[in-house]
Amino acid sequence: MTTQTDLNSLLLARYGADAPSLPEVAEDPALALLLNHRSVRAYTPQPVPRQALEMMIAAAQSASTSSNLQTWSVVAVEDPAAKERLSRLGGDQRHIRECPLYLVWLADLARLEAVGERRNRPRDGLDYLELLLVGAMDAALASQNAAVAAEAQGLGVVYIGGMRDRPEEVAAELGLPPRTVAVFGMCVGYPDPARPTSIKPRLPIDAVLHRERYDTAAQDEPVDRYVATMAEFYKSQQMKTNGDWAEHSLHRVRGPEALRGRDRLAEALKARGFLAR
Ligand SMILES: Cc1cc2nc3c(=O)[nH]c(=O)nc-3n(C[C@H](O)[C@H](O)[C@H](O)COP(=O)(O)O)c2cc1C
Repeated sequence: MTTQTDLNSLLLARYGADAPSLPEVAEDPALALLLNHRSVRAYTPQPVPRQALEMMIAAAQSASTSSNLQTWSVVAVEDPAAKERLSRLGGDQRHIRECPLYLVWLADLARLEAVGERRNRPRDGLDYLELLLVGAMDAALASQNAAVAAEAQGLGVVYIGGMRDRPEEVAAELGLPPRTVAVFGMCVGYPDPARPTSIKPRLPIDAVLHRERYDTAAQDEPVDRYVATMAEFYKSQQMKTNGDWAEHSLHRVRGPEALRGRDRLAEALKARGFLAR
């Protein structure tokens, strides 16, 4: 990963011409680390040391968690044959196969279920959408802390939504108990210096930051500016996309056929022991 620490240069990479001007900003390694993020899909064969993984998990467990319920778990997979199978279940993505460490992040209500069973206490709340959301939010917050901890240790990561394509088969592969489901995966490894990646621009701040009240109309102009910024980015990276950012994004949500099997996610979640009510 780049060791760039100048925050204004990082903001320029993140927003292009829409970069906020923060002349007084003090150098800060934590902010630089956050602004430096880019997904990494190519790795050296070097394994991820146990200590680096455990530091990622400690960071993950340090994230806020709804009511301290800690309704998430993670499965670390290093076995090449298992990664191969998970790659096939996740849209045949090469980086799942090639990363030295693959993490599968779970919404996990099974632990609370077991605690309730041992104490013979009611736990009907686990059946509701609310608790599924709690589990998914907890997993997301934990995993993002782990991602930042990985990057702080010189590792690179990419999330894998493809774990929701075939949730029942992923569960069988990992031996997951009922009331657990993979919400996403995460490839982890040392970035291959021969295949560097760039900071990907984001929407201008004024497209996502509303002050006092939400303003729908105010987003049109910054979104249009972003489409232009991304057109430049795609060109510079020689990225093949389905048209400009707006077309590309709309293509992803055009209908159930674009959801890669996830149009039946509610059914799969019910089969995994969620959403009984
Ligand atoms: C929940 C989630 C699922 C994702 N799934 C995939 C995936 O299946 N395959 C992949 O290559 N990238 C995946 N990504 C990575 C995004 O494409 C990437 O974060 C986004 O394009 C922004 O690029 P950046 O992370 O380099 O800034 C996923 C990201 C998130 C947050």
